[in-house]
Amino acid sequence: MTLLKIESLVVGYDAFPVLHGVDFEVQEGEVCVLLGLNGAGKTTTVSTIAGLLRPRSGRVLFDGKDLGRKSPSARVSAGISLCPEGRRVFPRLTVRQNLRLGAWTRRRDSKTVKRQLDLAYDYFPRLAEREEQLAGTLSGGEQQMLAVGRALMSRPRLLLIDEASLGLSPTVAKTVWEVTSRIKADGTTVLMVEQNAGALPFADRALIMEKGTLVYTGVGDELRQVNLREAYLGA
Ligand SMILES: Nc1ncnc2c1ncn2[C@@H]1O[C@H](COP(=O)(O)OP(=O)(O)OP(=O)(O)O)[C@@H](O)[C@H]1O
Ligand SMILES: [Mg+2]
Repeated sequence: MTLLKIESLVVGYDAFPVLHGVDFEVQEGEVCVLLGLNGAGKTTTVSTIAGLLRPRSGRVLFDGKDLGRKSPSARVSAGISLCPEGRRVFPRLTVRQNLRLGAWTRRRDSKTVKRQLDLAYDYFPRLAEREEQLAGTLSGGEQQMLAVGRALMSRPRLLLIDEASLGLSPTVAKTVWEVTSRIKADGTTVLMVEQNAGALPFADRALIMEKGTLVYTGVGDELRQVNLREAYLGA
């Protein structure tokens, strides 16, 4: 089933166009990776899906429905959650307080909040160990885990993760990517943005963006066979 459908999306900042008509689909139950170099338009894409930017034209359909002018918080309630670029954890709040804020749209549903909190700690045991620690004192990798955990607190159907691996060691980046397989198994579809082709082995579908246009879309074993890194990512 198609969970997310992007149709002819054109987005820009003031007079400056960034996405020049982007089309793609993400199926429910997939991990999809959107790859591209600096400035390709990846953050612009996920920000538009999350409702933080308005497209000039084109549509974002979620579960078959046009999201139109729905606000970011209405999109969270509809089942879309964004783990933003740069983590943006609240440094003066504890790990647990950061996580609970992620459940704001479900704050009256204490059962779900508890369930998601347990899930976040299960995915990232480090967070459980540091529950009462201020987020600002965590390592970069731990802050990234916290940002992903916080985004999961609203119990999304679609989790958008913007450059989780940025600034992390290869081992810690891998830990975060590996968790996407578990998130998927637990019923949440994942769309992750990456500059790092190391995320490919964790993906069911890959999209490659260059200068605001998709230049490659592939699924399954193809991702392992074609040398995407050499062909597109300039490595
Ligand atoms: N707020 C803004 N105002 C004007 N231009 C912007 C703004 N944000 C991004 N851009 C421009 O839009 C283009 C795409 O940026 P975007 O952040 O979507 O790229 P990206 O693929 O996420 O890159 P990176 O991997 O470096 O995060 C870039 O040329 C960037 O300079
Ligand atoms: Mg970006």
